[in-house]
Amino acid sequence: MGMEKHYRDEELSEYLYPPEILQKLDFTKSPATFKPKISAASPGEDWMVVRPLQRSDYDKGFLQLLSQLTSTGNISKKQFDERFTQMKMSGGYYVTVIEDKRLAKIIGAATLTVEQKFIHNCSLRGRLEDVVVNDTYRGKQLGKLIVVTVSLLAHELGCYKMSLDCKDKLIKFYESLGYKLEAGNSNAMNMRFEEPS
Ligand SMILES: CC(C)(COP(=O)(O)OP(=O)(O)OC[C@H]1O[C@@H](n2cnc3c(N)ncnc32)[C@H](O)[C@@H]1OP(=O)(O)O)[C@@H](O)C(=O)NCCC(=O)NCCS
Repeated sequence: MGMEKHYRDEELSEYLYPPEILQKLDFTKSPATFKPKISAASPGEDWMVVRPLQRSDYDKGFLQLLSQLTSTGNISKKQFDERFTQMKMSGGYYVTVIEDKRLAKIIGAATLTVEQKFIHNCSLRGRLEDVVVNDTYRGKQLGKLIVVTVSLLAHELGCYKMSLDCKDKLIKFYESLGYKLEAGNSNAMNMRFEEPS
C-alpha cells in the first residue's frame, strides 16, 4: 500500500545497453542463411524490433517468455528492477529481445554475457545464454535472428570467441549459425548445489 515505486517514462524506456550498436551489425559476416534476408536493423516486419532489454519489459511479458525456457519463479517488479539495475551497473550483460510492437509483447530473447579474462592478453569471452522464441512465433527465423544478433554483437565488442551449452537436438541449429563442436573439447559439466529457487 503506497509502497510501489512509480516510474517516469524515461526510466521505463531505459535500455540495459546502448541500442545503437545493434543497428550497425553486419549480417553478411554470419554463415547463417536467412530467406528472406533479415537483420537486427531490418527484421523483415515493420511491427518487429530487435533491441536491448528495457525496464518496461517486465510489463511486456519478458518473464512469461523466459518461462517457456525454464522455471523463472515468481519475480516481482521490484526484484526485476533491482536485477536490471545490477546488471546495468556491473556491465557485461547484453540481454537482447525481439518485440511484437502490435501487441507490446516480447517474443524472443537471448543473452550475451562478456567475461573478462587475464589470459590471451586480457581477452574477452562471450557466452550465449537463455535463448528462447515464443512458441507461436517459432519456425519463422526468429531463433536464428536473435542468436546471430548476439553472436555478431560479441564479435563487435571484441570477444575472441563465443560459447554455448545446448541440448543435443539443437546442435544442428547452432552449427548452421557458425558454432562448432570441437574434438576433445566439447564437454559441458555441472555441479548442482541446489534446485534453483
Ligand atoms: C530453439 C529456438 C530458439 C528456435 O527458435 P525458432 O524461431 O523456431 O528458430 P528458427 O525459425 O530460426 O529455426 C532455425 C532452424 O533451426 C531448426 N530448429 C529450430 N528449433 C529446433 C529444435 N527445437 N530442434 C531442432 N531443430 C530446430 C529449424 O527447423 C530451422 O531449420 P531450417 O533453417 O533448416 O528451416 C526455439 O525452438 C525455442 O525457443 N525453443 C525452446 C527453448 C530452447 O530450447 N532454447 C534453446 C536453449 S539452448
